[in-house]
Amino acid sequence: MTSFVLFLSFLLTFLGMAAATVCSNLTTCQNCVTQSDCFFYVTENKCQSKSLFQENDYNLTAYVAREYECPRPGPTYSDDFSRNVAFVYAAASLGDKQQIQTCLKNRIPGAVLYKQYTVDCDLLGSTCSAYIALNGANQTITVVFRGSVGKKQIFAEFIELTVLKLKEKSDFFGGNVYHYFYTAYQLLWDAGLGKDLQELARKNPSYKLQVFGHSLGGSLASLTAFAAVKYSYFTSDKVLLYTFGQPRTGDIDYAAEHDRFVPNSFRIVHGLDFIAQVPFREDYNSTAAYHHRTPVFYGDDMGKGASFEVSPLPDPQYGYKYGDLLSHLHITYFNVDYHAFYLNGCVA
Ligand SMILES: *[C@@H]1O[C@H](CO)[C@@H](O)[C@H](O)[C@H]1NC(C)=O
Ligand SMILES: *[C@@H]1O[C@H](CO)[C@@H](O)[C@H](O)[C@H]1NC(C)=O
Ligand SMILES: *[C@@H]1O[C@H](CO)[C@@H](O)[C@H](O)[C@H]1NC(C)=O
Ligand SMILES: *[C@@H]1O[C@H](CO)[C@@H](O)[C@H](O)[C@H]1NC(C)=O
Repeated sequence: MTSFVLFLSFLLTFLGMAAATVCSNLTTCQNCVTQSDCFFYVTENKCQSKSLFQENDYNLTAYVAREYECPRPGPTYSDDFSRNVAFVYAAASLGDKQQIQTCLKNRIPGAVLYKQYTVDCDLLGSTCSAYIALNGANQTITVVFRGSVGKKQIFAEFIELTVLKLKEKSDFFGGNVYHYFYTAYQLLWDAGLGKDLQELARKNPSYKLQVFGHSLGGSLASLTAFAAVKYSYFTSDKVLLYTFGQPRTGDIDYAAEHDRFVPNSFRIVHGLDFIAQVPFREDYNSTAAYHHRTPVFYGDDMGKGASFEVSPLPDPQYGYKYGDLLSHLHITYFNVDYHAFYLNGCVA
């Protein structure tokens, strides 16, 4: 009897150790998280057993339980391109045709406006807008989406995203996408943007596609870059995406699928920009609202030479960290007022 109990306790200890050992023997994050009882702890670069996990003992941002969340190096980020090309294109989107053309002429050698698209995109009557520009010298087709304008549009988005949390389950996008973005993307696409993009790609097979946008425009840029590859208008290696203050556009399944189709993707975030935190990812383990890669975090100062961090994780933020509600962090990128820049022809 005693020996049986001894044997049993030995067996249990052994099994316990074996279970713990299995996780800790797995050296890569990918191998680790495919085991349902293991998680990868980025801070120590270690695989551990979930049975040992205690929320209070860990840096929760560094808790990884899904393959998509495993750290990996992103593509090479260029602050100069982001600041002097992508953001300039993005800010020009607030102008009319003449103002867009003036911004491009002043700042982007060779770029000319091809067409502007504007549609009614919500029940409160706000419009969504985009334009395409061509640059023969640089062999680029650039699609740019305007961000939210006015309190009415921001209000409609805020209600949809954080209160109603309306989503579309989309086979095309491989996951859930927030309804507001999905609808606006579809309306603009159907207003001719999709057809024109297909036609321009066909006529200019050597051209690359650049897709840019701020705020709501960032989400629309994300969906459009994805669609352009999914429809085979462009191959992934020819598509470049830069967004500024982009909200979470869908869930983790969309995020993972997005990165598969648009690997050259940058999501620039100014400090605790509020919009980049909505819809909220409630806790470290939630995936219903999830950002895609590659996040580039700046501090409050985004002046020339400012430091930034390109994160190896797709969405290392959760909850809501108060920055300043809808004021300068979201509106100001690279120390430039997004809403006023176009009025000066996009020159500081
Ligand atoms: C785990 O690693 C230890 C030491 O590195 C080794 O002795 C043990 O056999 C490994 N266990 C398994 C299940 O691979
Ligand atoms: C927590 O982990 C994340 C991801 O590795 C890291 O960026 C962050 O600096 C860590 N925070 C602390 C307080 O160690
Ligand atoms: C032109 O394209 C190259 C490479 O694709 C890029 O480095 C450069 O910044 C682009 N310039 C403009 C004005 O778009
Ligand atoms: C994380 O979420 C999954 C379901 O999405 C759940 O099964 C698991 O227990 C959660 N883990 C922790 C540590 O909260």
